[in-house]
Amino acid sequence: MYKKEQYYQKVITSLLNGMNFLEADYYRPQWHVSAPIGLLNDPNGLVHHKGNYHLFYQWNPFSCEHGIKAWGHMISKDLVSWKHLFPALIPEEEYESHGCYSGSAIVVNDQIKLFYTGNVKFKKGRTAYQCLALLNSDGSVQKLGPVISLPKGYTGHVRDPKVWRYGENYYVVLGAQDIHKQGKVIWYRSSDLENWIFLGELAGSRLNGFGDFGYMWECPDLFHLKGKDVLLFCPQGLTKQYECFANLFQAGYVIGKLNYQTNSYQHGAFQELDLGFDFYAPQTMEDEQGRRILIGWMGLPDENEAYHPTIKSGWIHQMTCPRVLTLNNGKLCQQPVDELKNLRSDKIESSSIANDIPSFPMISSEMIVKGEANYQIKLSDVILIEVNNIGLILKRKNWRTHSWESRTWQGTLDELHVLIDRSSIELFINNGDAVLSSRFFSNKESTNISFNGEAMIHLIYWKLSK
Ligand code: FRU
Repeated sequence: MYKKEQYYQKVITSLLNGMNFLEADYYRPQWHVSAPIGLLNDPNGLVHHKGNYHLFYQWNPFSCEHGIKAWGHMISKDLVSWKHLFPALIPEEEYESHGCYSGSAIVVNDQIKLFYTGNVKFKKGRTAYQCLALLNSDGSVQKLGPVISLPKGYTGHVRDPKVWRYGENYYVVLGAQDIHKQGKVIWYRSSDLENWIFLGELAGSRLNGFGDFGYMWECPDLFHLKGKDVLLFCPQGLTKQYECFANLFQAGYVIGKLNYQTNSYQHGAFQELDLGFDFYAPQTMEDEQGRRILIGWMGLPDENEAYHPTIKSGWIHQMTCPRVLTLNNGKLCQQPVDELKNLRSDKIESSSIANDIPSFPMISSEMIVKGEANYQIKLSDVILIEVNNIGLILKRKNWRTHSWESRTWQGTLDELHVLIDRSSIELFINNGDAVLSSRFFSNKESTNISFNGEAMIHLIYWKLSK
């Protein structure tokens, strides 16, 4: 636990010490969100209020390890240029002694209210409190303390509140692990955001048609889209099945119908949100234009981070680009927000055999590729995208093992939309029908995109810069 003054002083010292390394680091994204120093993980408290997008994030400002988390805070008018504000929630109280963990935001009577998990660890075991705080217009926070404590029948792993309003009531979903070590999403109802009634399990491993489906579910998010109720969550402990569930932990969704009278949720099968190497803990918000926007963490928990090439510059991890969600044929589609088009310049358009396309600078760029299958796109010496009759294979040279690893999407590729920002790539296939997000660390002397193959392709390329 920290005293506020002491915490802020430590943050400032950490920033001052890191400044020079950070600026010189080629791998720093140009327009994706990353922390000013230290470790960033989940996006938290996404909300659009009075023309400002607020993005809070899990932050350890003191090292590149998952330590005791605070909520970093950024705002933006256009989802492209972000301004850092003072950290919103810092671990000061006993009920959050081991971190202000993930949560969400809701606007009530023109004020932003924050829900988060107070994480408390003991010598043996842990507990969790779901806490409420008010965000003042100057960015400071007034903590109201815990409003939900650990329900009976669950371990200390109950966290990540996502709050929404329906009719006269508020609802919250929480990621949970029951005492039989099964991952669940539980939910509560309240009329005032302070007194909550437990409604039971909304979904989970060994429930609603799921067999064994993981020992813990993290970061749930529930929202209404095109007449359906979509539940996002991150199950841990699934076994890899051919090309599915290829990462250590998953992030995905089910589509269904929520019945607020019977407090029950009928849903379909689990689908992964992103097939790339680095994607976890996504959160969504509805903005003032009515768009459902998703931002994810381009990283994964519990991975061997010690070899991450940016650590020596004092920072680690970044967010995905903001993506608009739509529902199409029983699937969530994700597309980069239109605002990102404002970053485009130096457009080049060409139609030719892949082999004849000259190479382009990779640094921060965007491409739309259409054409026959059977071509490859190479980014420096560490990323290879192969388009063939099966679909698309994303290959990456692992920075720790130096061996190649791959992720596959199967289908007929009509259009490939690529966003590159120094050390990240996001592939949007067929208008966002499938997405693959990954970090990569190229040799800084070789930062070109090159094409290979006999296929006839149509390419549009832009440089991206702020
Ligand atoms: C997901 C997660 C959350 C938790 C937070 C802690 O990455 O483990 O469940 O609240 O990160 O930083």
